[in-house]
Amino acid sequence: MSTTLLAPQLQAGSDGPSIQLRVATMIDELIAQLPSPARMTSEERRGILARYTAVLEGNFIYWMTATLLAVHSEEARPILIDNLTEEVRDSHPVMLRKFTMAANAFPKSEDTLAVHANVTKLRLFLGKLQGVQSLLTMAFFEGLIQRMMPYLAELAAAQGSVEKEYTDVHGVCDVAHSEGLFQAVFLENSLNPISADANLFEGVDLLRDVVYSIIQDPTKNLAA
Ligand SMILES: [Fe+2]
Repeated sequence: MSTTLLAPQLQAGSDGPSIQLRVATMIDELIAQLPSPARMTSEERRGILARYTAVLEGNFIYWMTATLLAVHSEEARPILIDNLTEEVRDSHPVMLRKFTMAANAFPKSEDTLAVHANVTKLRLFLGKLQGVQSLLTMAFFEGLIQRMMPYLAELAAAQGSVEKEYTDVHGVCDVAHSEGLFQAVFLENSLNPISADANLFEGVDLLRDVVYSIIQDPTKNLAA
């Protein structure tokens, strides 16, 4: 489902709660569709961890950098720079690689190819450098991955892993990121408003499709 919101209608006071509620509802719907680790085979659990890693390790900093390049608002930039600084300084990709290797779930070519089409669509969307839509996409994602951490930790534990740094770090700190990014959506729109025919949720919808390609078994279509 997609809704087109016109730029003049995007006001922090009146639209903020409804947009945040819609994003929260989309996150709830995704979390509710996560297949139960207890009812999955070891290979199915490995597949979700592997596809998650195939998407996140090489793309999250790319996505956030694309959003930084897209924004015009001086108020929005520090939020993105703080996020990127933490990613690089604390080397979150190293944490993720340790996490997935400890679970014997390092991506194979089939895992990367399973998410390829949807990852490509999202990359091309972010390449349009649309500040408001890109910020909302990142706000959605920061909220989502924080909610997914207990699930990923459960999958990894079921695979025999005791490595928890990645899931512990992301289960806490991204709450502040998500709130800051929601504020940035409205700061950006006041300076660099979305076009009248734009779909505010275009990137959110594309990123949701990426997450579906992570949680669905490509051979069984679990969450269809
Ligand atoms: Fe991170």
